[in-house]
Amino acid sequence: MTCNQHDDTKKIYDSIAEQYVEFKKAPFRTAIEEYTLFDVMILPNEFDRINKQQPVIRILDLACGDGHYTRKLKERFPQNSFICGLDISSSMIDLANMKETQLQQGIKYVCADGKAYTTTTELHLVDQYDIVTSAFYLNYARTHDELRDMIRGIYIQLKAGGTFYSITDNICSPLDCYNNEKHKKYSFYREMMEDSLRDGMSIKFSYYENVDSPSSCCLYAFYISPHVYEQLFIECGFSSFQWIQAQCDPNYPDRDYFDDFFRYPVLIGIIAKK
Ligand SMILES: C[S@@+](CC[C@H](N)C(=O)[O-])C[C@H]1O[C@@H](n2cnc3c(N)ncnc32)[C@H](O)[C@@H]1O
Repeated sequence: MTCNQHDDTKKIYDSIAEQYVEFKKAPFRTAIEEYTLFDVMILPNEFDRINKQQPVIRILDLACGDGHYTRKLKERFPQNSFICGLDISSSMIDLANMKETQLQQGIKYVCADGKAYTTTTELHLVDQYDIVTSAFYLNYARTHDELRDMIRGIYIQLKAGGTFYSITDNICSPLDCYNNEKHKKYSFYREMMEDSLRDGMSIKFSYYENVDSPSSCCLYAFYISPHVYEQLFIECGFSSFQWIQAQCDPNYPDRDYFDDFFRYPVLIGIIAKK
């Protein structure tokens, strides 16, 4: 089993890039994760922008991994869009570029640290984005300073009036959403690494290809309290911040299967407006 509690997120994802692509195949990823990000969060809020026929919609997908959601952004915004995916892991970006070579969607990929991608002095106003997205990025901040740097990076990338949409580990969840065997049937197990929640505490995610077999890989994210997120977004200049509860696609044929997922929810959304 690969188990990574490395100081360096880049090295972790460089070593498990292909395995991570497999984790994205679990049914909750489309029925809940993708549905919440696109159908609950982005599409209803961007309805006007889509219909205004703005010349070009610019979207940045931070911590894009192998481009899983970057490609879906291009499918949802097929015309008049410039879409860029950014990730710190060169192996992830290599996978994303391989897919781009096959699919020719016109997506640009950049290998860089989202915290330090561009400073205000380097960024030209024309290069800013209408929308910044991220799926499982902020949960890699170990300290308030790291989280502030991530949020500042997002703020700088957004145009005035732009919006940040994110799905992340559910730091608002009650304690029974940790160390809960009921999650294993969905392909993962989420563990608190200390007895009580503390900012900077590691959260271990073990992934299962099959619930009856041992975990094939594990990764660590970090807990920072919800009120610190709320404070830092406002401190960095965002005019609003909202937590969004995950939802299941109403057209998913076997919704009861996710009852325990919603009893013990591990995903949460964020919408923040500049
Ligand atoms: C859990 S994966 C999510 C990938 C993708 N968003 C998805 O949902 O499939 C987390 C990604 O965050 C990237 N990452 C972590 N810290 C980062 C940073 N500071 N800047 C850019 N990417 C980062 C990792 O390399 C990894 O690809």
